[in-house]
Amino acid sequence: MHRYAKQLETLSLVSDCLSKNGDTREILFQILRLLEKNLGLVRGTILLLSSDGKNLTIEAVHSADNEIDTDIRYQWGEGIVGGVVSNGQPMIIPKISQEPLFRDRIHQRRKSLNEEISFICVPIKIEHEIVGTLSVDLPFSNENNLSQELKILQIVSSMISHDVNSRRTASRQREALEAENVRLRDALGENFRPENMIGNSKSMHDVYTRVHHVCTADTTVLIRGESGTGKELIASAIHFNSPRKERKYIKVNCAALSENLLESELFGHEKGAFTGAIAMRTGRIEEAEGGTLFLDEIGEISMSIQVKLLRFLQEKEFERIGSNNTIRADVRIIAATNRDLEQAIVDNAFRKDLYYRINVFPVFLPPLRARKEDILPLANHFVSKYSSKNKKNVRRISTPAISMMMEYHWPGNVRELENCIEHAVLVCYDGVIHGYDLPPTLQMPSYSEIKFNGKLKDRTDALERDMIIDALKHTNGNVNIASKELGITSRMVRYKIERLGIDYKQYLNLTDDTQ
Ligand SMILES: Nc1ncnc2c1ncn2[C@@H]1O[C@H](COP(=O)(O)OP(=O)(O)O)[C@@H](O)[C@H]1O
Ligand SMILES: [Mg+2]
Repeated sequence: MHRYAKQLETLSLVSDCLSKNGDTREILFQILRLLEKNLGLVRGTILLLSSDGKNLTIEAVHSADNEIDTDIRYQWGEGIVGGVVSNGQPMIIPKISQEPLFRDRIHQRRKSLNEEISFICVPIKIEHEIVGTLSVDLPFSNENNLSQELKILQIVSSMISHDVNSRRTASRQREALEAENVRLRDALGENFRPENMIGNSKSMHDVYTRVHHVCTADTTVLIRGESGTGKELIASAIHFNSPRKERKYIKVNCAALSENLLESELFGHEKGAFTGAIAMRTGRIEEAEGGTLFLDEIGEISMSIQVKLLRFLQEKEFERIGSNNTIRADVRIIAATNRDLEQAIVDNAFRKDLYYRINVFPVFLPPLRARKEDILPLANHFVSKYSSKNKKNVRRISTPAISMMMEYHWPGNVRELENCIEHAVLVCYDGVIHGYDLPPTLQMPSYSEIKFNGKLKDRTDALERDMIIDALKHTNGNVNIASKELGITSRMVRYKIERLGIDYKQYLNLTDDTQ
């Protein structure tokens, strides 16, 4: 092909290169390669001026014969390239052997090559400012039309400069935006993250922000979310970041006690108030004076206790059971529930007025499956927690095990993940957690896999099994609550547990309700 046609074709390829997205240096390198491959312009080098304008550093370099030390710098005005930058004019050197100013520091041609070389260097300009140089070698020949080659290089240089400029502007804008974002986030307290809380997902940051906003006030907080999402952790984070942090933090699990016991647990009783009340007892509300009372599973309390609690929330007053003496207490209330309280109101199981009292500032904890990016950081956190607890040296989680965890839908949320890692650390023998170290639930083909192949009976069984296991996990193995969730009788659930061979005791272990 005629040289002129070759040159045109090369320019069009350079333009294609520049239209690609990607790393600037890689794109510039591809352009230098094109110049060599198509036009025989070898050892292409692009130098850019440092931001203080003192040095030229290598932005991209192409060399077929030498390993290049990319740390080499030229000073402004030094050698040929430094001169091109300082006076803004291109340079043609027909024979480098006859040019005393030619430093040859980057490619060190005089050391390794015998042939005579011509050298062309053009400035790279952004508007009128010179920001760098583009230079190439050409084996010396009398046939060469060096001023023609120079023109091509000038075109390439101006194409590059447009690109360098727009990428620089874009990256400067991006940096400015990021800095602004960080500033705003700081101002909003969004960088606040309670100690012990792992997870950087957007939805968890929203949670941290809400916690940050509410912790300094005395506002009642209602924490909502499925079982195992970290409600208790958030409750303690609110207390320990509040002005009450030096005072008591008292937890009451409202689902763990019968109605009578819960009443006396909360409000206390006088001696002889009821059979068995052999001594006076102060309630948890009194105990929490000046501090915080965390009412876990508030959705489970009976209607009659709801009335008493409402009174306390409204008046800050109550009486011990069997006493007429009204007691005042300064206690901040944090409540948590995984129950659909709005539905409970419709079902007449939860008082609307109490709901309005506690729902002043709701914080919603998203289920783990809705923030998959938190799975790996949490898993790593639990790996180090349980390996040091068990004095085992578990270094990492294998890729297949990670995929299994990412695939899984975690109906028991972070608590289930924690149990799963605790188990895996125990059985792990070679310092790596493998897929087979994870519990069988993560390995079982899920309903979605079976539903496409298998008989109708197998498919419905698989679906039933999945639904029942999920419900048991949600409810920490409580068949009665699970049956409500599933909309069938608890007798039916027990029958199905038996028939489908579900080991429901395993889900009892998911609970942390030891308190
Ligand atoms: N974001 C988190 N970072 C670290 N551990 C967590 C996180 N969320 C939950 N956990 C752990 O998971 C378990 C269950 O959390 P918990 O607060 O008891 O859940 P919930 O009260 O919603 O059922 C606890 O051992 C808790 O420490
Ligand atoms: Mg809990």
